[in-house]
Amino acid sequence: MTDILVLYYSRHGSTRKLAELIATGIDSVPGAQARLRTVPPVSTVCEATAPDIPADGPPYAELRDLEECAGLALGSPTRFGNMAAPMKYFLDGTVAQWLSGTLTGKPACVFTATGSLHGGQETTLLSMMLPLLHHGMLIMGLPYGEKGLMTTASGGTPYGPSHHAHADNRGPVTEDESALALAMGRRLARVALRLDGAGA
Ligand SMILES: Cc1cc2nc3c(=O)[nH]c(=O)nc-3n(C[C@H](O)[C@H](O)[C@H](O)COP(=O)(O)O)c2cc1C
Repeated sequence: MTDILVLYYSRHGSTRKLAELIATGIDSVPGAQARLRTVPPVSTVCEATAPDIPADGPPYAELRDLEECAGLALGSPTRFGNMAAPMKYFLDGTVAQWLSGTLTGKPACVFTATGSLHGGQETTLLSMMLPLLHHGMLIMGLPYGEKGLMTTASGGTPYGPSHHAHADNRGPVTEDESALALAMGRRLARVALRLDGAGA
């Protein structure tokens, strides 16, 4: 089986819902399996130590997950139009992987959740691509062949799946948002399987 890393941060669970849908899409492709991982929060005032294993949900990512996986779906809530600090903090710890080209040539996609509909999904998705480009990853989006891109009245963009969670984070993942997240997982898995071992 070829592992594909679905790495996300989620404080209130909205980004996590998208991560699980993308993982389902990945798992639906024969030969591919999703490896769901998250990152711990960061402390602004002093060094806080998170438990090794989160209280619920998938384990925290280790750097070897980046090495072992053939593709990456990276997710974060939108915070002031950008990715959340815990995900940026994790990425800032990947210098050794950048130096050794661990991620070079592997396909990647990005996803996000927001409280408001026009609160920066696209800016977050585009800015999340930047460190992945520095790593030499092959960035993937969603083509307009995916009907949901035209019909959605909530999230779902050509830059990657997204979810409008509303201010209380209780908005359900809509049919279009769900279809686009599943499609992204399938698309990432198919490309990762083709490229795995191809030395792109
Ligand atoms: C510090 C902070 C900044 C935020 N900035 C934005 C923003 O720029 N645009 C927006 O629509 N929502 C913003 N939100 C709301 C989150 O994006 C939204 O609650 C999201 O669904 C949280 O995802 P999660 O449930 O995966 O943690 C912000 C939330 C916080 C705590």
